[in-house]
Amino acid sequence: MRIKRAVDQNSTDILSLLMKVNLPTEGVTENIDNFFIIHNNNTIFGSIGIEIYGDVGLMRSLAILPSLQGRGYGMNLVNTLENYAKEKGLKKLYLLTDTAEEFFKKLNYKVIPREKANPKIKESVEFAKLCSSSPLLEKDL
Ligand SMILES: CC(C)(COP(=O)(O)OP(=O)(O)OC[C@H]1O[C@@H](n2cnc3c(N)ncnc32)[C@H](O)[C@@H]1OP(=O)(O)O)[C@@H](O)C(=O)NCCC(=O)NCCS
Repeated sequence: MRIKRAVDQNSTDILSLLMKVNLPTEGVTENIDNFFIIHNNNTIFGSIGIEIYGDVGLMRSLAILPSLQGRGYGMNLVNTLENYAKEKGLKKLYLLTDTAEEFFKKLNYKVIPREKANPKIKESVEFAKLCSSSPLLEKDL
């Protein structure tokens, strides 16, 4: 099992994984440079990405293949993404989730009212359209 930055050629496998766990696929290909994958001999079984808006980021597309969930891989991917965001000088991460609020609370993310989101996050497709009523969580880095 290894975590690495995604490259263009990984897009198809990431999209297929996201479809398997019912997560939005819009915007992944365009933003592939800010994605990480977890893989074994290049077979992808996990993904995570970030959309960067100035000094804040919107975490998205966290997915682990159902048969491999519950082994700590999800947490490993979040840790990797947080370190990447810190290296890029981001001050805060946001995410929207209908399915994994408790998972993120274990990692010190806090639910905040959607109207308190950074204005740049509010303009993202995920906030405005794809997850337009999902709970919003944030964490200071
Ligand atoms: C959410 C997800 C990424 C977690 O990945 P994972 O590898 O299964 O999680 P981990 O093994 O790292 O779990 C760590 C802890 O969180 C818990 N956990 C995992 N998924 C959870 C969930 N959806 N809700 C609540 N708790 C969860 C685990 O039980 C574990 O708890 P423990 O440390 O007390 O034993 C994975 O379940 C998944 O891909 N789900 C479908 C897609 C999804 O909902 N993505 C989130 C979109 S924002």
